Amino acid sequence: MGTTTFQQPDTQGYYGPFGGAYIPEMLHRNVEELRSRYLDIMQEAGFQKEFQQLLRDYVGRPTPLFLAERLSKHYNTPVYLKREDLNHTGAHKINNAIGQVLLAQRLGKKRIIAETGAGQHGVATATVCALKGIECIVYMGSKDIERQAPNVARMRMLGATVIPATSGSQTLKDATNEAIRDWINNPTDTHYVIGSVVGPHPYPDMVARFQSVISEETRAQLKEQTGKELPTRVIACVGGGSNAAGAFYHFLDEPSVELVAVEAAGHGVYSGLSAATTQLGKPGVLHGSKSLVMQTEDGQVVEPHSISAGLDYPGIGPLHAHLFNSGRGSFLSATDDDAVQAAFLLCKLEGIIPALESSHALAALTQLKLQPNEATVLCLSGRGDKDLATYMKRLD
Ligand SMILES: Cc1ncc(COP(=O)(O)O)c(C=O)c1O
Repeated sequence: MGTTTFQQPDTQGYYGPFGGAYIPEMLHRNVEELRSRYLDIMQEAGFQKEFQQLLRDYVGRPTPLFLAERLSKHYNTPVYLKREDLNHTGAHKINNAIGQVLLAQRLGKKRIIAETGAGQHGVATATVCALKGIECIVYMGSKDIERQAPNVARMRMLGATVIPATSGSQTLKDATNEAIRDWINNPTDTHYVIGSVVGPHPYPDMVARFQSVISEETRAQLKEQTGKELPTRVIACVGGGSNAAGAFYHFLDEPSVELVAVEAAGHGVYSGLSAATTQLGKPGVLHGSKSLVMQTEDGQVVEPHSISAGLDYPGIGPLHAHLFNSGRGSFLSATDDDAVQAAFLLCKLEGIIPALESSHALAALTQLKLQPNEATVLCLSGRGDKDLATYMKRLD
């Protein structure tokens, strides 16, 4: 297997016991082409120039690191928000979408497919495809199509075709199944832009690298604002785990920095309506990699539940399974109600409406023992515009 750090998987894509590439024969050529070329392409000067330029001039990076003063006063500890919500299209997903579409172009691909849960990854991918004039097809669970209607409209305006996934719980897992099916049927001209640190190797590593800009900027910004590069802890929500992977990346091998991942507990971890994968999952294979998966005794995937479409997933990326298993990461969970309450608190104290996903990370602030002399960085992964209909139902 070779050596691994937390940052880097081994050559077969394993983080400890998790990862690898468990794929049908029909996908072997595609995945192997990607595996053998992604690092070289990402290191090309021309690729880096275009990627960095788009992150700056199109996305609006660097995103601010904002000391949230009233929130900090509320919890009696400094809380810095990494404002991924201010990115073009409203979430961190665009960092990865740009990276993968530029990579697909260099692989000569003419057609892009993607899966989406909350719609943020679908919107981000549709956006970059519009920018580059490439055909884009997005698979989305029918339940998510209903609860994230504004994002469905945005994808259509951007010229993408949105195809409903009607099987299972009609959410992210099912959309991913449909996208994989499409890729199997279109093995030569199509690139599958996976939206999180999941899927067969090299996706988890590739997506983590594209999202690592979050922690790269955070380190420099913390140094500038506080004189120290390392915070006490970094908190991020985890669906598949891409904003967390990006927010943790440059702190993974800094043992003094506590890494706090927050999963969706839905109606409660043991309520039967939850998506708290590390609490409920067992080792298994889902969507091409070995990780922790919510499953029955005989290995059937359990349908997850979360109020937030982006966290409504029965798996977790292999990096996070390893962080959990090894004890390097602390894994907490927040219920639907905790998340909504935390969102309303941020609105009132800081004038920021967070995405439901990010609200789970905010809810973790109530669970931690926070000290006045610390520095907590919280990845505010997205903005709440897409969630207004859900929030409105909960307004007094
Ligand atoms: C705003 C936002 N945050 C977080 C997530 C969860 O994804 P990940 O765990 O890959 O960051 C999503 C997914 O759609 C999202 O839209």
